[in-house]
Amino acid sequence: MANENKLQAIIAHAKEYGFVFPSSEIYDGLGAVYDYGQWGVELKRNVREYWWKWMTQMNEQNIVGIDASIFMHPSVWKASGHIDNFSDPMIDNKDSNKRYRVDHLIEGFAETLAEEEGKALLADMDKYIAADDFAGLKQLIEINKIACPVSKTVNWTDVRQFNLMFSTEVGSVAEEASKIYLRPETAQGIFVNFLNVQKTARMKIPFGIAQVGKAFRNEIVARGFIFRMREFEQMEMQFFVRPGTQKEWYEYWKSERMKWHATLGIDSAKYRYHDHVKLAHYADAACDIEYEYPMGFKELEGIHSRTDFDLKSHQELSKKKMQYFDADIDPETGKAYGNYIPYVVETSIGLDRTVMMLLSEAYTEEDLSTEEKQDSRVVLKFIPKLAPIKLAILPLMKKDGLPEIAKELMEECRQHFKCFYEEKDAIGKRYRRMDAIGTPFCVTIDHQTKEDQTVTIRHRDTMAQERVHISEIKNIVLQSL
Ligand code: GAP
Repeated sequence: MANENKLQAIIAHAKEYGFVFPSSEIYDGLGAVYDYGQWGVELKRNVREYWWKWMTQMNEQNIVGIDASIFMHPSVWKASGHIDNFSDPMIDNKDSNKRYRVDHLIEGFAETLAEEEGKALLADMDKYIAADDFAGLKQLIEINKIACPVSKTVNWTDVRQFNLMFSTEVGSVAEEASKIYLRPETAQGIFVNFLNVQKTARMKIPFGIAQVGKAFRNEIVARGFIFRMREFEQMEMQFFVRPGTQKEWYEYWKSERMKWHATLGIDSAKYRYHDHVKLAHYADAACDIEYEYPMGFKELEGIHSRTDFDLKSHQELSKKKMQYFDADIDPETGKAYGNYIPYVVETSIGLDRTVMMLLSEAYTEEDLSTEEKQDSRVVLKFIPKLAPIKLAILPLMKKDGLPEIAKELMEECRQHFKCFYEEKDAIGKRYRRMDAIGTPFCVTIDHQTKEDQTVTIRHRDTMAQERVHISEIKNIVLQSL
């Protein structure tokens, strides 16, 4: 299936089967804002919990979690550099009045060129971006006659910087109100709580603090479904290390995060690293883990060596010490390492981008036609541990005591994992509905069940069916999770 078609098919399927709806749809939606429906919310919650468990429970490193608030003191964003630096070069088309992120505009155009030509154009763009050369960027757009996708003209303004943070006011009356921001990253909640956690949990360096939560960015170009949203969720972990060791920890987390991705059952060829050309104001090394979405390879996760930039800036602005006392002995001096501001290596992955990756990976159209009849199905091949529903329990008929047996099984299994019960429609139709939302197992209770307590278990991907004792069902599902 062509990539653009696949993306459109996934968006349509996600809506039709209750994964993702456009926000406020009855008012024609709100750009780059989406709502998760009944199955989307389960999928998203499973990913969130899996990441959380992997970071704070299964990881060999010492990592604890927090949940900081979205609103923070405005000085946080001054210290972090977001007020001054969290902006992208933008350009407006004077005929359509549409505003574009310059890199997106040029990237979009590069995709229409032959491979080598496109690469050369992107290399020029990277050079100008790294040098903050806005005149150079505009010239690149003009020389290549890159037109506005709406007006089709090349009548452009100069390139300017636009801050991506949303602001609002806190306080009851206008005179008292002060401007605050919706956090554009969750990481700052970790930095300002660094000593609270370190002291109360008696953490020793190296250690990590993890957090999952909403972040907000006034993205100018809203594209790619839940890939680029104005309100989204991040899963971030800040790992605090001794100064001078950040490079090894950066490499460690690069490889460690890839191991997590490998557990999702996705082919490693669908991932690649992309080193940053222009480093953010806080970083001394940074890369993205990219996944091959239907729109091509795009950033899924960032690994950033953030130096001591954030803690140092907070210390300077707040006048509160952000230091850690390291009692370990430095073999070079024979003395304790003593007080220092730790360096930080961060892993930051978008929860929504992970959900989009899983939908893209799982979405499969299968032709099941035989000589006798045309047939097809759409199946979402989620790994069982992330599937919204693990088991569908389907009595063949609404009578003869079959629902009673099914409900008993439901009662037993729902204590352990998410189940779905359905009596209506022909069994084939019910199977297809479960395929469409990615349920790995369906169990059918029929008249034979009454005689020998066996049921039919159907496996989603192979559609194979086998007869097993009803008492085995719970363990078959549990073993797959
Ligand atoms: N704390 C570091 C940080 O925020 P980032 O690269 O700007 O770094 C991290 O964002 C991750 O957050 C990205 O890799 C992406 O998965 C996700 N993300 C960023 N902007 C997003 C958006 N507008 N919509 C959805 N996810 C986004």
